[in-house]
Amino acid sequence: MAFKNKILVTGGLGYIGSHTVISLIENGYDPIIVDNMCNSKIEALNRIEKISGVRPNTYIADVRDEEKMEQIFKENKIDAVIHFAGLKAVGESVQKPKLYYDNNIGSTEVLLKKMKEHGVKNIVFSSSATVYGNPKKVPIVESDPIGEVTNPYADTKVQIEYILQALAKQDPSLGIAILRYFNPIGAHPSGLIGEDPRGIPNNLMPYVTQVAVGKLPELNVFGNDYPTRDGTCIRDYIHVCDLARGHVLTLKKLEQGPGLVIYNLGTSVGTTVLELVNAFMKANNITIPYKIAPRRAGDIPECYANCDKAYKEIGFKTQYNIVDCCRDSWNWQKKNPNGLN
Ligand code: NAD
Ligand code: WQD
Repeated sequence: MAFKNKILVTGGLGYIGSHTVISLIENGYDPIIVDNMCNSKIEALNRIEKISGVRPNTYIADVRDEEKMEQIFKENKIDAVIHFAGLKAVGESVQKPKLYYDNNIGSTEVLLKKMKEHGVKNIVFSSSATVYGNPKKVPIVESDPIGEVTNPYADTKVQIEYILQALAKQDPSLGIAILRYFNPIGAHPSGLIGEDPRGIPNNLMPYVTQVAVGKLPELNVFGNDYPTRDGTCIRDYIHVCDLARGHVLTLKKLEQGPGLVIYNLGTSVGTTVLELVNAFMKANNITIPYKIAPRRAGDIPECYANCDKAYKEIGFKTQYNIVDCCRDSWNWQKKNPNGLN
């Protein structure tokens, strides 16, 4: 049965959340956003409106705030929740583990409690390829082991997955989807929304675009002595609009009936750091100065997905390739050199 009511999107002003809100609107859903703006700006909402013509009902609140969440569930008839809200910086999670456990697990616990109290049965959870730790083989399939992780951020994702899996066992009337994203990059083709990191970016693509726009002098390529084709690490970079569409397809799966599903969302293609930098230069006709720097602690040589399961079960297939990703990331950055202001 199709969801006729509202989809609560936690973290809906963030990078993946804002793109997913657009996809939801385009597919006839009615998203309600809750975001505490710890890593987003209200301008994202203006941009969502500009792209979609719709200004979704938005609550500026922390998902851990039970009273506020009670109000949101009371005021809106919700069919399903997409739970993006969380902190995501691996390095910061090592420095401030309690903050990560409190925020990521605490918000999920409040959310699940309110869902239960209000009879909301369906949830899509933003997990991460990071739950696989250092994979024994690539491409990674969903049945590969998870849990051997080395930082608190990844551990919060693992713990939340375990909670959701236990709940699914205990209550077969629930519809639970765990989506393990690989490396989201790119931006909406309009250039109106995109990734807007605070401070110096940790991740490769925003670092590259900030070098391109002149905010940073050069890229450090962390290690060229890995056992890969050019010595740099391999990742599975997925366009954020493909990822957003994956959420709509997942909702359609949950509409078919309850149960637990787990999908890798990636492209099934591995790209090295140097391949990505070269694709960026070629796609945008820009030179990115870079130097080879020491390895970054904790990096794994290779991580890319086998996405056959998502294709077979929900028809998930990417529409954008690495060149599209590079073009759209740059389009976003050059139109918004200082991000959303
Ligand atoms: P993001 O930081 O842009 O978005 C997260 C949003 O959640 C932000 O707008 C933030 O303000 C909000 N938020 C955080 N804690 C909150 C709380 N307690 N209450 C209310 N709002 C809160 O990050 P993103 O890249 O869009 O990631 C979304 C989700 O996907 C996260 O759970 C992240 O861990 C996961 N994920 C991201 C990546 C990635 O590389 N971007 C990869 C795998 C998984
Ligand atoms: C990609 C590659 C770096 C920056 C992280 C999280 C993961 C997930 C996605 C949330 C690596 C190299 C990077 C730079 C570089 N997030 N690099 N110079 O590490 O695969 O994954 O984001 O769940 O949990 O760990 O992504 O973009 O940081 O790095 O050479 O300035 O680029 O060494 O090989 P990563 P990334």
